[in-house]
Amino acid sequence: MADMHSPTAAAPSVIRRADYRAPDWLIPDIALDFDLDPALTRVHATLSVTRNGDHERPLRLDGDGLIPLEVKVDGRILDQQQWHLDAGALIIPLSGDAHSVETLVELAPESNSKLMGLYASGGLLCTQCEAEGFRRITFFSDRPDILSRYSVRLAADKARFPILLANGDPIEQGDLDGGRHWALWNDPFPKPCYLFALVAGDLACNADRFVTMSGREVALGIWVKENDLPRTAHAMEALKNSMAWDERVYGREYDLDVFNIVAVADFNFGAMENKGLNIFNSRYILADPETATDIDYDGVEGVVAHEYFHNWSGNRVTCRDWFQLSLKEGFTVFRDQNFSADMGSHAVKRIEDVRILRAAQFQEDSGPLAHPIRPESYMEISNFYTSTIYNKGAEVIRMMALMLGAERFRAGTDLYFDRHDGQAATCEDFVAAMEEGGGIDLGQFRLWYEQAGTPHVRALLTHDPLTQSVELTLEQTIPPTPGQPVKQPMAIPLRTALFDPATGGHRGDELLMLTEAQQRFTFTDFASTPILSINRGFSAPVIVETNRSQADLAFLSARDDDPFARYEAMQQLMVNVLVGRIAGQQVDESAVVAAIRAMLTDPTLDPAFVAETIRLPSEAYLGDQMPVVDPDAIHAARDALQARIGAELEPLWRDVHAKTKANAFAISPAAKGARKLHNAALHYLVAAGAPDGPAIAFTQFGEADNMTERQAALGTLANGDSAEREAALDIFYNRYCADALTLDKWFQTQAFALHPDVADQVEALGRHKDFTLTNPNRVRALYGAFAGNQWGFHHESGKGYRLVADCIIALDKLNPQTAARLVPPLGRWKRFDQGRAAMMRAELQRILAEPGLSKDVTEQASKSLE
Ligand code: PHE
Ligand code: ZN
Repeated sequence: MADMHSPTAAAPSVIRRADYRAPDWLIPDIALDFDLDPALTRVHATLSVTRNGDHERPLRLDGDGLIPLEVKVDGRILDQQQWHLDAGALIIPLSGDAHSVETLVELAPESNSKLMGLYASGGLLCTQCEAEGFRRITFFSDRPDILSRYSVRLAADKARFPILLANGDPIEQGDLDGGRHWALWNDPFPKPCYLFALVAGDLACNADRFVTMSGREVALGIWVKENDLPRTAHAMEALKNSMAWDERVYGREYDLDVFNIVAVADFNFGAMENKGLNIFNSRYILADPETATDIDYDGVEGVVAHEYFHNWSGNRVTCRDWFQLSLKEGFTVFRDQNFSADMGSHAVKRIEDVRILRAAQFQEDSGPLAHPIRPESYMEISNFYTSTIYNKGAEVIRMMALMLGAERFRAGTDLYFDRHDGQAATCEDFVAAMEEGGGIDLGQFRLWYEQAGTPHVRALLTHDPLTQSVELTLEQTIPPTPGQPVKQPMAIPLRTALFDPATGGHRGDELLMLTEAQQRFTFTDFASTPILSINRGFSAPVIVETNRSQADLAFLSARDDDPFARYEAMQQLMVNVLVGRIAGQQVDESAVVAAIRAMLTDPTLDPAFVAETIRLPSEAYLGDQMPVVDPDAIHAARDALQARIGAELEPLWRDVHAKTKANAFAISPAAKGARKLHNAALHYLVAAGAPDGPAIAFTQFGEADNMTERQAALGTLANGDSAEREAALDIFYNRYCADALTLDKWFQTQAFALHPDVADQVEALGRHKDFTLTNPNRVRALYGAFAGNQWGFHHESGKGYRLVADCIIALDKLNPQTAARLVPPLGRWKRFDQGRAAMMRAELQRILAEPGLSKDVTEQASKSLE
């Protein structure tokens, strides 16, 4: 059904992994001189270039929107005939094998709304170079396999920009005429240009120190606006914990004398691992009980760790080309996940991570934008900072770690770091180091890098009372994905246990390797049919279907000793009931109610684990279980089950809600767990339709001494209609309207609301005086959240689609990267009924018809129509 859409712009060109070629010229050294000013910044660059290999090709330096004011080779100015521009790049024919090349350009950071390259944010000047932003700052060979030593001189007005930071170590600074000053920074470690950074501004510092395992002292600085200083303590704690953890777990030590972090308000992603100078979206640095939820605290800890860990997995060993992005991102996510687990609860962290994987990555992997963790081609690399590269990439590393065991995995990573230190490496290099260092054959396992799509595993257990044996038949299928109609069987590690219902125990957890399309495993000495616990700990990122009964699932939800499997059994129990209800079948909901009751009344369980486990699967996850998503039926069924659970267990919810009320705020795992359960109890109480529900929520909203309980109460109220809803929204707005990060929560809570009029509310909020397209956090808080609200976004009127498409079109003119990230929800049209699918496609076509559409949005929208 290939239909015609007619994008006005020429199709952007496709870059292929197979086309990789070593660079023609190397750039071992670069000296940069910045004369900084928001309106007009001058950048003078001096590059030492050396010919790489035997060829006659000219020097090609990438540029994006740059005009050379001067070009010099070996100190002599070239006239206009001796260079030219080709698609933004500067081409210079050179005769010798080594030259010095100088360029001068001018930039206007304050009008850079793309937030790539050098830009202004809240009075600061800062940079973002990954993936291809450095070419917006100076002419350079902007590819990650060009490693250079950087020397950077910054000059700026001293009153407006008293702090001048860049990568590496500070060397010297001084004053200039006219109220200006300068600073010189030197980074001794050769690095790719995507890791370059500078910051200039009026910043205050939370200063601390860390002594590394070899006894070197490192000066740590977290730089923020003066009045944000009190909100940096948690980030500093996280940084020191990360540094110690990487030494202890991976034997990796920090390597410079200083480590700086700067928080900026306008940022396209979460944070950036620039060498020695991480730049963060302020939402992942600033936290205090008044404004940050426990999720925010955990986000700060996780992202600080993630960026710090990149110093080895990403910076010391970097990527050869952008097809290898998961080499650094998948591995680093795996590292930060394990760090966070060690700082809190392994069980809860695993549940949270799998929930994220299923919500984002499984959806991506089953839609038109599915790609392997090592893609074969792209138009715009910014579109490949995906959940697949990050989260599935982390799962692939996790499977290797599981198959190897801790010690051999460590031998593999030691070999990887030692062998490739200072190099630009490939995913294949990583796998080879695991094979050699860990002693394992990963031949078939490599398919995880090549094949997209989430494998489905059918697990059927049969028992033969005569032979007293059990047979487990496992069958795998991998659905077709764009460009990959037929798949080969993968190597899938499945942690499995067989429970004896009589004793409630099992004989041990086994790692079954499923490597064939179909495979049988036999277990002996079972007098009766055991209960299957499979994919324990979510050992493989697959979808498992079993023939387990509701009774089996109820048993596992009460008895499984693997916390993830226990959670999973409970979720499956709920899914089965909900899917039945959605299909209009008679279903027995009592098992769900009973299982929740058992959880709530078991005093041995961690409250955080209980809160995770008793939560109903999201509307989107239920949609994933259906051949055609019916948003209204899903919402109705989930709402009804929630009300029933709320009503039948009402006294328990009241009791739990009262017992988990804290006396004073603490950020310990125990206190966080209590708050999670407190909020879950409130949620079910209100869902029960208890007449005093809104009043209880409003009291929690007013009395909470922390944002976790306050925002949860607001969210619960926002789902319904009550005087309390309006009052709480007003109070929240008036209290926090001056604090951008907290005001984001006001937008986000309303956009997430399971409220029948949410689309109209989002439309009104888009015209609110505090809404702006220039701040990515604000855009994500409103439109990003709304596009993830299945019931609201997929309103049968098509209004939700139109709102998001309007936003994409308007935002594309300012910030294509952030605009492109809103496209995928519109691309899931194949999963919906014909009416909705037609409206979604019409919006994609309307977007593509926009004149001057960016490469970013063009790629996402055109692929989404296929
Ligand atoms: N490399 C960053 C990280 O994952 C993400 C990022 C990509 C940030 C592109 C900005 C731009 O840590
Ligand atoms: Zn990263």
